Amino acid sequence: MIAEVEWEELRRLAFEGRGRAYAPYSGFAVGAALRARDGSTVLGCNVENASYGVAICAERTALAGAVVAGHREFEALAIASAAKTPSPPCGICRQALVEFAPDLAIRSYNEAGQVAVYQLSDLLPHAFRADQLD
Ligand code: THU
Repeated sequence: MIAEVEWEELRRLAFEGRGRAYAPYSGFAVGAALRARDGSTVLGCNVENASYGVAICAERTALAGAVVAGHREFEALAIASAAKTPSPPCGICRQALVEFAPDLAIRSYNEAGQVAVYQLSDLLPHAFRADQLD
């Protein structure tokens, strides 16, 4: 369980990540802050490309950075955007995250101060998991 004060820190860090977004094509800057089980936090931001389909979401840059840093267990993810209502992670990011943290707690924030609260298991029920490869 993440304490409210920790969510506040994650919210701040997600907006810090958003400040690094490279989103000249959509104009939709997103930041993420992914909290690993050991208490460390890795930031993410969306990184777009002139070849539009190459874009990667904030949630997955955070996940990739965290795995590179040696983390494989996660307990919370904060997302920051300027969406009219706080935006949930996209389908590809849900699948990427479920690999490491099926019960991840997620909160999405917008600039207006609104928050949406999710559990990854609710956002992606019946996920495809490694045991299906057996
Ligand atoms: N995007 C994210 O970074 N995270 C999401 O959860 C949804 C979408 C990015 C992808 C693209 O760079 C821009 O937002 C518009 O879709």
